[in-house]
Amino acid sequence: MPFIHIPQPWQLPERQVTSEAAFFNRRRFLRTLVGAGIAGAALPLIGCQRQSRVDAPTFDTNPLSATPNPTFSQVDRPTTNEQLAATYNNFYEFGGTKQIWQNAQALPTEDWKVEVTGLVNQPRTFDLETLQREFPLEERLYRFRCVEAWAMVVPWIGFPMNAILKAVDPKANAKFVHFTSYYDRRIMKGPTFPPSQFLPFPYTEGLRIEEMANDLAFFAVGVYGHTLPKQHGAPVRAVIPWKYGFKGAKSIVKIEFVETQPATFWNTISPGEYKFESNVDPEVSHPRWSQAKERLIGPNSEFDWEEVPTLKYNGYGEFVASLYA
Ligand code: MTE
Repeated sequence: MPFIHIPQPWQLPERQVTSEAAFFNRRRFLRTLVGAGIAGAALPLIGCQRQSRVDAPTFDTNPLSATPNPTFSQVDRPTTNEQLAATYNNFYEFGGTKQIWQNAQALPTEDWKVEVTGLVNQPRTFDLETLQREFPLEERLYRFRCVEAWAMVVPWIGFPMNAILKAVDPKANAKFVHFTSYYDRRIMKGPTFPPSQFLPFPYTEGLRIEEMANDLAFFAVGVYGHTLPKQHGAPVRAVIPWKYGFKGAKSIVKIEFVETQPATFWNTISPGEYKFESNVDPEVSHPRWSQAKERLIGPNSEFDWEEVPTLKYNGYGEFVASLYA
């Protein structure tokens, strides 16, 4: 997979920040294509055009019961409308806009397996039923903050990542964990531009092992009282609420314990903009926009939003600040 290096960020005013797809420097990228002999192809450029949104779509989900975790049953903001959260997503395998929920319905989730491997004493491959039987499900209401400066509040259902740690018993030299998302280029067409073959799919993310062990780090198998709809990353995805949303890999098929910091999707594409650590921090600007405030989306549409101050660690400092002392 070619490496896309973007030395000079494309200057985008904050009001236009809509998607990571827009982060690519189109002219530089076109030059790369020309250099690679792909000149002449009529390449469509990414536009910020919106596809029409169908009101109140229904999704292929099943009810899922879980015990509400009292520590995470309230936040200082209203819960985001479910339809809104399920129709405003990032899932680059299915396109570069927020309106990918229809495309994402092509994700094949039957007979899902999650392989837990690498530097562990007890490697395991879990099917979904085993995951849900072995690890008691709880519901947690979490603030969710995207690096693009929009935010939501989402009731996830799942289990803490540290349950997996206990089950597989990492070796002493396991320092990082690497998550890999499902990828099949035949059904995941990717963004219009740049073409998928120039992006480092499969989507991957990672954490330090101490971050994974923190009680907040979560694997979600459900949301809003039912199984995850595909666009949210069915059947299992990561949710790390004190970090920017891109750290939460969707539709995970592999969890690998490794000794050195693994390469990850956005950090490979633009290391100066998407750091491996990527904790939510109002004082650390993205190179092209401030992170001091965020657009709290909702209640009814993506165009209804309230601007609020960004909270350090997304408001979860009491749980995680000690990791970075
Ligand atoms: N995981 C995969 N596999 N592919 C993606 O494009 N996008 C990330 C993250 N996980 C992404 C992904 C980003 S940028 C965000 S903000 C969140 O998913 C969005 O999650 P949501 O659509 O459920 O709100």
